Amino acid sequence: MSQDWERGWLELSVSALDVVSRVETLEAVEAARVEYLGRERGRLTALLRGLKDLPLEQKKVYGPQANALKDAIEKSLESRKRALEAKALEAGLASSRVDLTLPAPPWPRGRRHPVSETMNEMTSILGRLGFSLAEGPQVETDRNNFEGLNVPADHPARDLQDTFYLKDLPLLLRTHTSPVQIRHMEANKPPIRIMAPGRVFRHEAVDASHSAVFHQVEGLYIDKNVSMADLKGTLSVFIRGLFGPKAAIRFRPSFFPFVEPGAEVDVRCLLCAGEGCPACKRSGWMEMLGAGLVHPNVLRFCGIDPEVWSGYAFGVGVERIALLRYGVPDIRMLYENDLRVLEKLAP
Ligand code: DAH
Repeated sequence: MSQDWERGWLELSVSALDVVSRVETLEAVEAARVEYLGRERGRLTALLRGLKDLPLEQKKVYGPQANALKDAIEKSLESRKRALEAKALEAGLASSRVDLTLPAPPWPRGRRHPVSETMNEMTSILGRLGFSLAEGPQVETDRNNFEGLNVPADHPARDLQDTFYLKDLPLLLRTHTSPVQIRHMEANKPPIRIMAPGRVFRHEAVDASHSAVFHQVEGLYIDKNVSMADLKGTLSVFIRGLFGPKAAIRFRPSFFPFVEPGAEVDVRCLLCAGEGCPACKRSGWMEMLGAGLVHPNVLRFCGIDPEVWSGYAFGVGVERIALLRYGVPDIRMLYENDLRVLEKLAP
């Protein structure tokens, strides 16, 4: 009996720790625990149970050794288990690891809208020419939008078809940036040199070249002895700043109630360089802006003596310029804000 026990003990004490230290999976750790320490049939458990049948001398020798082996196996199983768990975690991480050598995915970059871009360009050129920024509200009075600008009460520009009037209020959406002239001249003494960029509104059917909401930049210069030559010089520099050094302008007599003389300014066609093409209706010139010398009635309305002071004014549509600079054929492309279209537009 005690010989069987000794044989069993010898076998276990030589092999158990070795086996446990070599298990390769978490399932094998559990299987080894059952094999050696299982409560029912564990091999070491059986030996420990058999200790009580050994002679006293042997009990004294083997008792502590068998218990020490039990502790050692428990510790070994535990450390194996931890090592295998750590390995599994690392393998999981490895399979989900970020590959830093991959090229970065494209990151869409935002930028200013072509209309803002164009407006900024226009005000930056005028800024360098000495014009300072002035602003007015988009909701205006009839007085500033029409009356002060020498637009008589029966002038067709006031027609309901052109102007958005506010319901039940004596107000309207400004049809041009020119009312900023009135606001500024009433609040400031000459000399004056301002630019007024902003949004304007017209009750118009929308088509390829018309929008009910669009933008203008107004210019106003009041000083002593201001002439058409000053106006022409300033506008030449302005237009060349926008379209390059070869851009040429011409003045054509025209009528606006708030200037005298008044002119429409054309730019030599940017597409055919004056040869004549569909874009310029075969004329070689493109209509670009309205301008003139400020009418004495307008100066007087604002409390400025037209015998002492004179000045010029001009108003430019921003969208027209943007369409030409970006080569866009239809104003609606600027307002639908389809990113696939806007992304392709470059000045
Ligand atoms: N306000 C005019 C318009 O909207 C444009 C214009 C013409 C402005 C002549 C001016 C000017 O300052 O002198 O059509």
